[in-house]
Amino acid sequence: MEEKQVKRRRIVLVPVPAQGHVTPIMQLGKALYSKGFSITVVLTQYNRVSSSKDFSDFHFLTIPGSLTESDLKNLGPFKFLFKLNQICEAGFKQCIGQLLQEQGNDIACVVYDEYMYFSQAAVKEFQLPSVLFSTTSATAFVCRSVLSRVDAESFLLDMKDPKVSDKVFPGLHPLRYKDLPTSAFGPIESILKVYSETVNIRTASAVIINSTSCLENSSLAWLQRELQVPVYPIGPLHIAASAPSSLLEEDMSCIEWLNKQKLGSVIYISLGSLALMETKDMLEMAWGLSNSNQPFLWVIRPGSIPGSEWTESLPEEFSRLVAERGYIVKWAPQMEVLKHPAVGGFWSHCGWNSTLESIGEGVPMICRPFTGDQKVNARYLERVWRIGVQLEGALDKGTVERAVERLIVDEEGAEMRKRAINLKEKFEASVRSGGSSCSSLDNFVNSLKMKNFM
Ligand code: UDX
Repeated sequence: MEEKQVKRRRIVLVPVPAQGHVTPIMQLGKALYSKGFSITVVLTQYNRVSSSKDFSDFHFLTIPGSLTESDLKNLGPFKFLFKLNQICEAGFKQCIGQLLQEQGNDIACVVYDEYMYFSQAAVKEFQLPSVLFSTTSATAFVCRSVLSRVDAESFLLDMKDPKVSDKVFPGLHPLRYKDLPTSAFGPIESILKVYSETVNIRTASAVIINSTSCLENSSLAWLQRELQVPVYPIGPLHIAASAPSSLLEEDMSCIEWLNKQKLGSVIYISLGSLALMETKDMLEMAWGLSNSNQPFLWVIRPGSIPGSEWTESLPEEFSRLVAERGYIVKWAPQMEVLKHPAVGGFWSHCGWNSTLESIGEGVPMICRPFTGDQKVNARYLERVWRIGVQLEGALDKGTVERAVERLIVDEEGAEMRKRAINLKEKFEASVRSGGSSCSSLDNFVNSLKMKNFM
């Protein structure tokens, strides 16, 4: 008998055009595809994930007239986001209208990144169900909700007062005022304005979070109480559904280099896709790494040191001293690096994806957050999960050397590694059948089948 082909219902994904957002939404797409949905990814004209063999089953659409890379450079991230949300509203309606015409009325829901809130205008017009997807931690979401209610002026005064900024923020223990997700990318008023847009769920029927209850139980419970729609923690998505979506070319030669290093000896350093670093900090870091005598793999993203193209500000003396035990690349296959047995620690800016990826391999961390939610993650890594050493204040080579020693050589680092491995096992259990994140994804998928999901 001929097998009857069941028509897949469609889910539309709307990612922010930035690496840290594209990665988890494409993983979510893979997870939902495996549950029997068709996936359409609606992209802007900037930072496009390719429709490579990994996504050959996905359908891609482009919002007409959206912003470009030079707009991001000229406007900075926050103004860029505001403008993107203004500009994309009409174009996105056009995309959804076209989809409905071509594919019929089979859109199960629109899942949009919390920063792409323009999506709400189209779902309202076409009366489609929508779901908000948060790519940051649940705790960072809680912080943004709290911040969206504070008075910008008095908050700014508190942050500037060193006596206050070191204090624990009421209700957010162990986060201090200075750990809250303020940003290096814009004035506090625009940051708070963007935050209040991202935490306003409008008509969304649910919230999906790339986290898991073994990591953030109380923040997830807080969100569940406050948001009044179901909250589905279905992460870590990189374990639940692998989906290679690097926007930059990965230098695979570092794996060959890692193959030659001793077990657990290498410190891997990468500050993600957006963080910037002053030349003087880079030099302190370089000399600290050199003096530590540990092997290191360092990702220096071109353009991440203002005023330099790449590594030209590193002294020749440094390059000579570390020639045998240092390897520098422009962009690494991070997941493979963290999996590699030679890697003993990760110096990270603590972006949420990097945090999950490091814990997912049981690798302890040196935390040097640059901005935003990274500060929240760094504080949790050090104080809550106790698998990281945070470097605060001015960076100097002595502190860098000591941090590497604590992580890779000392008993303290071995204890952190044990706790990280324990979390890694909990991660794996949470995405296995019967685990909390796996059940959460199933519950979400089942909710889409209900008539009143809207
Ligand atoms: C930022 C925020 O900091 C993050 O918390 C938020 O959720 C999204 O926006 P980003 O700064 O890029 O993201 O950091 P991160 O979230 O860690 O994402 C970086 C991604 O790039 C990771 O998935 C990582 O595996 C990948 N990466 C990084 C590489 O593939 N190669 C590298 O060399 C460095």
